[in-house]
Amino acid sequence: MQMDNNLINEIRNSVDIVDVISSYIPLISRGKNYFGVCPFHDDHSPSMSVSKEKQIYTCFSCGATGNVFNFIQDYEKISFKDALKKCADIAGIDVNIKGDTKKLKNQELYDIYDMAQKFYQNNLNTEYGKKAISYLQSRGLDIDTIKHFNIGLSLNTNDTLFNILRKRNYAANLLIKSGLITENNKDVFVNRIMFPLYDSNGRLIGYNGRIYNNEDTNRYVNTKETEIFKKREFLYNYHSVLEDVRRQKQVIIMEGPMDVINSYQHGIKNVIATMGTAFSPEHALLIRRLKCEVILCFDGDDAGRKGTKLAIDELTKIGIIPKVVMLDNGLDPDSALKQDEKMLKDLIANPLTIMEYKEKMLHNNLNLNNTEELAIYVNDMLKEISKIDDEILKEITINKLVLESKLDKELLLEKLANLNKKNEKVVDIPKVEKKKIDKYEKSERNLLYYMLHYGDVITMYDKKVTHISNDSYRKLAYQVSAFYKKNKYINVADLITELKDDKDAIKTIGELESLNLHEKYTEEEIDDYLNNILEENINNQISIYKKELQAENSLDKKIEYANKLVEFKLRSEENDR
Ligand code: CTP
Ligand code: MN
Repeated sequence: MQMDNNLINEIRNSVDIVDVISSYIPLISRGKNYFGVCPFHDDHSPSMSVSKEKQIYTCFSCGATGNVFNFIQDYEKISFKDALKKCADIAGIDVNIKGDTKKLKNQELYDIYDMAQKFYQNNLNTEYGKKAISYLQSRGLDIDTIKHFNIGLSLNTNDTLFNILRKRNYAANLLIKSGLITENNKDVFVNRIMFPLYDSNGRLIGYNGRIYNNEDTNRYVNTKETEIFKKREFLYNYHSVLEDVRRQKQVIIMEGPMDVINSYQHGIKNVIATMGTAFSPEHALLIRRLKCEVILCFDGDDAGRKGTKLAIDELTKIGIIPKVVMLDNGLDPDSALKQDEKMLKDLIANPLTIMEYKEKMLHNNLNLNNTEELAIYVNDMLKEISKIDDEILKEITINKLVLESKLDKELLLEKLANLNKKNEKVVDIPKVEKKKIDKYEKSERNLLYYMLHYGDVITMYDKKVTHISNDSYRKLAYQVSAFYKKNKYINVADLITELKDDKDAIKTIGELESLNLHEKYTEEEIDDYLNNILEENINNQISIYKKELQAENSLDKKIEYANKLVEFKLRSEENDR
């Protein structure tokens, strides 16, 4: 299917690249641009700049450059069409874009998982699966819920899946890479209930396998880290919860698949889960992308409390203020539902604010009648308050603390100001090293930069110059000029869409964008560049003639070349006047 460029550009125009990229990586604003740590190479400093005005990103370290489609495509490793579809979804544009069947990176791993899933899911429906089903039912799940989550079963043999996959001619090392088969060609998952794990695009990427009819030291086995399964970036049920989350404008975060599945069984459908309590910055970004209220509902044990704290820290860092459900010691959402469904639903309907939660946590552990413990409490609370962005929440909490501690508000404010000073981190944005280049190259480069943004400059170029000596600049100038002729406007983000797979051209654009040239140009400046380019062309031509002249042996020919050279010089001087 050939996509209409106008529609593509409309979709691109309807989303803001800064919004989109900041839903994947944290961006900080500096002057006109935004900066973040580039996800396309191994880095720790913010070398990727994102321009709101131009709607493109460039990494001045690795050269990664593109518009919003390129970013999503490369970040999620999905096809152009799928990236387009995502943007249309974000923009709320209703277009019928068919998902892509194009072979993508790691396609074989996805295929292997699809094959495995057929096997596991089928096992559950066999005679052998009866025990597993009754286990699931004993935990309160009905057949519809089991189907909804595509739950499967691995058998009590350790090479059945291996043999199935080998028959499909997958290389043994690929099977090991998939995380489904061990180094010794054995099935990783044996005799376990299989909870399939899907990425945010709904692709099957791993399993969580639970014992059900035997004793085993490992209650759960998860797929190891693979090319496609990164635990830090994974949230259970994320892909299928989108509609419910959108409708309810709220998402609830729990610890494990069983919590999510049992919640679903009880009609609470806007639930996702980290696999355990290792809440990562990547999780926070995925959650922010849902653009809704966030409720943390981890287990009521130490691990759950630690997870809650971690999640609060990671979420607030990127501007999300979650609310918290605090379960009694020893309860997890799954068991809370079993014990008292209404209680859990009430807790979710009236979650604690972060400050209420933190106060509770601090109160629980300290005796505020003891002077020393009160001091610890006040200091801890101030630390927490200093992290609050919301001014009103801040004020309310300070006033509460004043009442509780009976300390002077001025004193608390002063302490707070000191803490804030400490919190202010200065982020250094790496400088681009300036390469020394001659006036000709500089002219070509700067001219091309302005051609990327101004139709008038393209017109000036078209009138005066037909040749640029630098190969990649010449090629790009040609492409820019052709785009302008065809579309009657120039826009670098749309140009990038049209350049598609021309990696070199896009890279050149990235280099030009990293230069930080003035946004505005003057006509004289452009004229200078054009004249310099003409001069360079002439010089190049002259040196070609000179070389030919020197290489020639016959006197007649030498005279012929010398004449040519003189003629050329005269002509070009005339043109100059
Ligand atoms: N987990 C894990 N390995 C473990 C323990 C936990 O991978 N040894 C992950 C699992 O994904 C699990 C989640 O952390 O689902 C939450 O752990 P836990 O609360 O212990 O599991 P429950 O949800 O209570 O599971 P169940 O009720 O089935 O025992
Ligand atoms: Mn649990």
